[in-house]
Amino acid sequence: MERTFVMVKPDGVQRCIVGEVVSRFEKKGFKIVGAKLLQVSKELAEEHYEQHKERPFFGELVDFITSSPVFAMVLEGNNVVTSARTMMGATNPKDSAPGTIRGDYAVNIGMNIIHGSDSLESAEREINLWFKNEELTQYDVTVSKWI
Ligand code: TYD
Repeated sequence: MERTFVMVKPDGVQRCIVGEVVSRFEKKGFKIVGAKLLQVSKELAEEHYEQHKERPFFGELVDFITSSPVFAMVLEGNNVVTSARTMMGATNPKDSAPGTIRGDYAVNIGMNIIHGSDSLESAEREINLWFKNEELTQYDVTVSKWI
């Protein structure tokens, strides 16, 4: 079953919408198989965003992600990588449609509430980076047969 890495960024935690974000994924039909609130180290932030390290916004991005705790999750479900990205909306909130998480809650590209892996390969890399194997669970939910 496909898995992805999703993180409510510091602005989402500070604005008290962690529950709202989690709820959207639960209601959609995705299973939470790992979750934790953590203060991100500079090293973890730099490794997570290493593909952007030459970009002009890299320093600000790392400062932002380490500025307050984040809520990190691993979600499981059919096509969860693509679906979670669709539910998040476009990177720049000025382009993200109403009904998406960024479209409903963000106005600023620097503080756009949520991260989600952009491919199966990124999902695997990010899940391994953020979670130990023993922090992830396998369980059945009875609702699954209705989804
Ligand atoms: P990116 O991986 O391009 O987007 P996404 O989060 O949708 O996968 O960029 C990572 C984060 O970097 C993005 O969520 C917000 C920040 N960012 C900026 O601050 N300025 C920018 O011009 C871009 C492209 C991203």
